[in-house]
Amino acid sequence: MFAAARIQRRAFSASARQLSKVTVLGAAGGIGQPLSLLLKLNPRVTELSLYDIRLAPGVAADISHINTKSTVTGYGPSATGLSDALKGSEIVLIPAGVPRKPGMSRDDLFNTNASIVRDLAKACAENCPEANILIISNPVNSTVPICAEVFKARGVYNPKRLFGVTTLDVVRASRFVSALKGTDPVDENITVVGGHSGVTIVPLFSQSSHPDLSSNSEIINRVQFGGDEVVKAKDGAGSATLSMAMAGARMAESLLRAAQGEKGVVEPTFVDSPLYKDQGIDFFSSKVELGPNGVEKILPIGKVDANEEKLIEACLTDLKKNIEKGVTFVAKSP
Ligand code: NAI
Repeated sequence: MFAAARIQRRAFSASARQLSKVTVLGAAGGIGQPLSLLLKLNPRVTELSLYDIRLAPGVAADISHINTKSTVTGYGPSATGLSDALKGSEIVLIPAGVPRKPGMSRDDLFNTNASIVRDLAKACAENCPEANILIISNPVNSTVPICAEVFKARGVYNPKRLFGVTTLDVVRASRFVSALKGTDPVDENITVVGGHSGVTIVPLFSQSSHPDLSSNSEIINRVQFGGDEVVKAKDGAGSATLSMAMAGARMAESLLRAAQGEKGVVEPTFVDSPLYKDQGIDFFSSKVELGPNGVEKILPIGKVDANEEKLIEACLTDLKKNIEKGVTFVAKSP
């Protein structure tokens, strides 16, 4: 009787609980720490792997005492640290790199972060080529193409598995609109398309329940430059970390839900996209349906009004340059 119950329980837990190793590269940083904390609280994560060039074992020891079932291991930059951290990962989140200071654009981070992302992408291509790679490090418009080029050079590029994390833009849009309209942010589903910096961020209010906002330059500007509010308020100590951690954890959770069979999971994300390929733009953020293979379906932009058309035009000009910058970087320094 006892043994039968045990066997039954084992069979149940094996089928109901998929093993999901999630890795954070840059886990000891401003984003990395709260992101790792939120992932530890997620019951879908069974193994949490934390890598950083400093402090990761300490962060891992701390988080590992939280009484949820997942195991937590911290890895530093030893000979095998990064490869051990990555092997067997289903999802890798990358918030490694430097954040902005007041007056800086995300593109100003390129010189430092491009090589960090390139090198981490190489390690991912070698150790977990089939993982979903979620790039948080800025400038996302360039670091995602950098990662794609690195994977292509090694013959392991799968466009369905590479994501630039733009979740924070929709999180901000829904909060800003609800504050303006006195509504519950849960009910404000604002579509944001394009890229993840300044004018490449395009909110489509005409598709929301507040179409009047599509000509409101103040709220459009707030969504496009919301990150600057945080950079300014932190006064030299960094950019958004806590709200970004929430947004990154939401994106990871959505991928895990989709991988575990849930249908209709849709997130905005910056992916290898057919939407503007005819204009030479290989990556674009839009609503994407997720599935067990990563990207299941890239949803169309839908109907936009004249003002939004202009915003998209401005977006495409900048986005093209940002993407080319990433591709050229890898070609010159592979
Ligand atoms: P941070 O400086 O607090 O943390 C970065 C961490 O990366 C540090 O712990 C550092 O040791 C680590 N690191 C540096 N080089 C590394 C390497 N080669 N391997 C592993 N770890 C390495 O910075 P924060 O605030 O966490 O921001 C990280 C990045 O995220 C920045 O580039 C920032 O611009 C970006 N970001 C992206 C957002 C988005 O919406 N996608 C929103 C906010 C920030």
